[in-house]
Amino acid sequence: MKLQPARGTQDILPETSQLFRWIDRAAFDQARLYGCQEIDTPIFEFSEVFHRTLGETSDVVSKETYTFTDRGGDSLTLRPEGTAGIARAFISNGLQQLLPLKYYYYGPMFRYERPQKGRFRQFHQLGVEMLGCDLPQHDVECIALGYDILKSLGLQEKFKILLNSLGDRESRSSHREKLVEYLSKFKNDLSAESQIRLEKNPLRILDSKDPKDQCLLVEAPLLQDCLTDNAKAFFETVQTGLQALQIPYEFDPKLVRGLDYYVHTVFEFTTDLLGAQSAILAGGRYDGLIEMMGGPKTPGIGFASGLERLALLVDPQNSKQQGLTAAVLSAETSTEAECYRLAQALRTKGLSVELLLGDLKLGNKLKRANKINADYALILGSAELGQNAVMLKNLKTGEQKLVPLSTMYSDGLSFPPA
Ligand code: HAM
Repeated sequence: MKLQPARGTQDILPETSQLFRWIDRAAFDQARLYGCQEIDTPIFEFSEVFHRTLGETSDVVSKETYTFTDRGGDSLTLRPEGTAGIARAFISNGLQQLLPLKYYYYGPMFRYERPQKGRFRQFHQLGVEMLGCDLPQHDVECIALGYDILKSLGLQEKFKILLNSLGDRESRSSHREKLVEYLSKFKNDLSAESQIRLEKNPLRILDSKDPKDQCLLVEAPLLQDCLTDNAKAFFETVQTGLQALQIPYEFDPKLVRGLDYYVHTVFEFTTDLLGAQSAILAGGRYDGLIEMMGGPKTPGIGFASGLERLALLVDPQNSKQQGLTAAVLSAETSTEAECYRLAQALRTKGLSVELLLGDLKLGNKLKRANKINADYALILGSAELGQNAVMLKNLKTGEQKLVPLSTMYSDGLSFPPA
């Protein structure tokens, strides 16, 4: 038996888990301020939910999905991202009457990628999807929410925002034509992968990391020169909104994103602190997605952000649990019943309590209380119980004093203890 986690997966031990929870809660607190509600969709879906929507030629679908046939013969895929599943849930649950809808989500995603720092095969995303939101002003709100989330995590100095417009369908087909015409002249010089993309999805060639492709792309027609007047006006309104909010961004005409469902605005929040895995939050507009899946025409915009990457950037001190911890220790087994009651009473007051009972020597119980870093030990022997009191020891200063049990039951540790 292999006792390692599978390649690209990791155990999330308490310290990191605490950090993830803190990031998720902080992000949701911001999302709530923008009117988002939480949604949770299944971790696997029928394969076509992802295969058609994300694009057969996208890296995610062509190389990275975990797809399997289940015992009933259905082809299922572990979700590589959250947007397509939420679009599917919107259609399956007939939610169009409730539009506009704003969702926040958090959970594991799966991509068969080459693992490296900040890149895993099972990773976690938090994300936002705004459905039925067709205006460029919604794009501004969406980007502003991403910005506020990263700011609330204390990352304001650590990223920049790249912004582009992929235009509407008309802009894209005119660009596609020009791009194919230009690249066809150099077809044999393109990388093997780009030669295939030239037939199937030429826009994705702009995303190529191949140095030869990149050389050829320097002179390639830019999407921005093919935008229709409508698409231009849409993008201008997005930019005016961001400027009004003083959200700094850089226009990046080469930003095309790896998934096929995008139109108009696309954006990436990137950092140079994580090596090659620079994108920490990314998204864009996907007006045709729900319709393409067979649902009603419903525009949408959203983003997702990788928790593993955020966790490498935030200050771990932020997530440290606040509040006191107490250990309730029995000095003799005869006091255990009272120890149980005391521990329960303190927990109902929100205190984290470790109960240390049994035959172990009192000295060893105190060692254990120190080891878990408890702030106070509450020691109960028959002598203390005889006086209806408990010995309260401050484990940080060593001071101790006898406190009436009635005070502990009524006030917990909220009175100024020793
Ligand atoms: P994406 O750019 O594929 O977009 O992923 C979004 C974020 O997830 C990335 O910026 C990165 O932080 C994180 N991420 C992606 N792959 C990995 C990985 N293998 N390991 C660790 N982190 C990773 C989407 O997924 C779209 N669904 C975003 C979206 C929502 N667009 C509209 N709505």
